[in-house]
Amino acid sequence: MTSIASPAVPGQIHERLASDVRNGLSASRKHLPPWLFYDEAGSRLFDQITLLPEYYLTRTERGILTTHAGAIIARAAKPSGSQSIHLRITELGAGSADKTRLLLAAAVASQGTVVYEPVDVSPDALEAARQRIEREIAKVTVAPRMMDYTHGPKLDLAPIGVGERRLVLYIGSSIGNFDPAEAAKLLGRVRAGFNPGDALLLGVDQVKDEATLLAAYDDASGVTAAFNLNMLARLNRELGANFNLAAFKHRVVWNSAESRIEMRLESRTAQRVRLHGLDLEVDFSAGETIHTESSYKYLPGQAEAALTAAGIAPVQTWTDAQGWFAVILGRVA
Ligand code: AVI
Repeated sequence: MTSIASPAVPGQIHERLASDVRNGLSASRKHLPPWLFYDEAGSRLFDQITLLPEYYLTRTERGILTTHAGAIIARAAKPSGSQSIHLRITELGAGSADKTRLLLAAAVASQGTVVYEPVDVSPDALEAARQRIEREIAKVTVAPRMMDYTHGPKLDLAPIGVGERRLVLYIGSSIGNFDPAEAAKLLGRVRAGFNPGDALLLGVDQVKDEATLLAAYDDASGVTAAFNLNMLARLNRELGANFNLAAFKHRVVWNSAESRIEMRLESRTAQRVRLHGLDLEVDFSAGETIHTESSYKYLPGQAEAALTAAGIAPVQTWTDAQGWFAVILGRVA
């Protein structure tokens, strides 16, 4: 899976990698962008994260969708009055595996067939999604769309058929990896690509007690630490850097003022790292950190307010019994 869009073409990857890393490591407060997590090793580690007992997000959202997929599809398919319309399902990111399957199966059950359009910058991720979905769910036609949905003024999607409406899925708390201004832009981009009656299904992680939040990003078996440190291993592999992974520590902080989990890599000692591919040397003081990810958590009603501000009217919110995660349906009139 790819959550934060990364460039698709190898040459582009290298160009953006070089400029993002140079900028991030030369800043007075060092940072690296989260798209760097998702090389092959990082994507495998992320899949393991979703299975961890501490990482409640995936199983909680899956629980909501298991219970409510039928109701969600029914609600999305009835923009007004009592007549159901045919939905085309578009997903930002190339499929959230079993969670997407629940919604596609519910759509097939209610309308017979469904066109599923995963949107991603990675041709490999799109092809894997196509094969997986077509193999596993009969009556679903997969129409992959290679595109970076994080850039540009609007989501430039294929035109839909007469009488069809689009349901865009943005689940998995992916919106949480954008700061509020970026999230507002992303919702605006989705809205700009909508026709009347089109809908968005947003999966949003909610604010909860600090211990639960911290454990989800600092699991006992160290998988999230390995995921975070893999970013440095990637720079060693792809930019000829000489990061000593043992000299950095996985650090997780709950920033309550910003309502976000921050993942950082903390230098254990004063050290100098060389990135041969960039002809760059970077000095770290002991305890200095690189900010690698923010994961925003929403209060009840906040994501609905963000949808409203983007011109998408919230229609219904589904949560789990503890109110840990919310799945919100919004629509344009
Ligand atoms: C992809 N994204 C929603 C995950 C999150 O929870 O912010 C990425 C992640 N980072 C550490 N664990 C999971």
